Amino acid sequence: MLEHGGGLRAASRRYGIALEDWIDLSTGIAPWSYPVPDIPAAVWQRLPEDDDGLLDAARAYYGTAQLMAINGSQAAILALPRVFAPRQVAVLAPSYNEYAPAWRAVGHEVCECTADEILHSAADVILLANPNNPDGMRFARQDLLAAAERLRAGRRWLIVDEAFADADDEHTLVQLAGTQDAPNLIVLRSAGKFFGLAGARIGFCVARPEMFTRLGRQLGPWPLSNPARYVAKVGLGDTAWQAVQKQMLRETSVRLAQLLATHGLAPCGGTALFQYVSCAEAVMLHDFLARHGILVRCFDIPSALRFGLPANEAAWTRLALSLTEWRKK
Ligand SMILES: Cc1ncc(COP(=O)(O)O)c(C=O)c1O
Repeated sequence: MLEHGGGLRAASRRYGIALEDWIDLSTGIAPWSYPVPDIPAAVWQRLPEDDDGLLDAARAYYGTAQLMAINGSQAAILALPRVFAPRQVAVLAPSYNEYAPAWRAVGHEVCECTADEILHSAADVILLANPNNPDGMRFARQDLLAAAERLRAGRRWLIVDEAFADADDEHTLVQLAGTQDAPNLIVLRSAGKFFGLAGARIGFCVARPEMFTRLGRQLGPWPLSNPARYVAKVGLGDTAWQAVQKQMLRETSVRLAQLLATHGLAPCGGTALFQYVSCAEAVMLHDFLARHGILVRCFDIPSALRFGLPANEAAWTRLALSLTEWRKK
């Protein structure tokens, strides 16, 4: 299994700090989740049904009808390599660490490309995240569209993972994916990050309908559980909550960037859900913060830390105090 943020239980054992005493900044999941409604007993009891209203809510939220509900965008990240015959695939690096192994595992030839290289790659499939995780790098919408157009001429594909695009949506391509204008464009979306519902495993693939048939064969029936469908339907339709969430996340992320800069850790990138700090002492600072019960995500190549958003004032105070102590060392 690859490393991801959120391993609080393992951190608790390793550092001997009780689970409830941790501040978990190791993920890009919103610290305030959509207030999950009571779930009717019938929803638990019955099998999922396609016409339960989830797709209508998702169509309105994403502004496209070309979508398929899946159990987290991770499900598509693992299944998409299986719907293509082995070919050359260009994957953005550094980025979400699941991409390259998923394609390599089923025989594709994977080339890891930097952000400068990837859109000019000659590969048959180009896969990137926008905004990127962990560094928050953004590809401009017009550059992606030009790349999709070029790729289309050679019957090649562009896959854009927009897991972090809900509150950073200026370059989203979700409304174009799988349309006549961009039939070779596939967009992945997640309800885990912005809605703070990562545990429910809710995601969407936006593409041409034939792709859903092929994906469906990989994912089998009922990829998304009925309770998850119910919660997603309500959350995707709650535009008032979404507007407040978007503003709160953006403001909080700016506050985080400021706090980090005050402590000599000015971020070099970020999104509304995290800040990314390039730092030669990343491993040491990660360990130092963990000893203070604060879990952040550490990357070795390049050496960097990713900070998620603190959930409350107590967490802000503890983070500020720990960073002050770190600077005094
Ligand atoms: C860029 C990116 N895409 C996709 C995922 C998977 O998200 P989901 O919870 O929708 O499966 C993650 C998880 O961290 C991610 O960082």
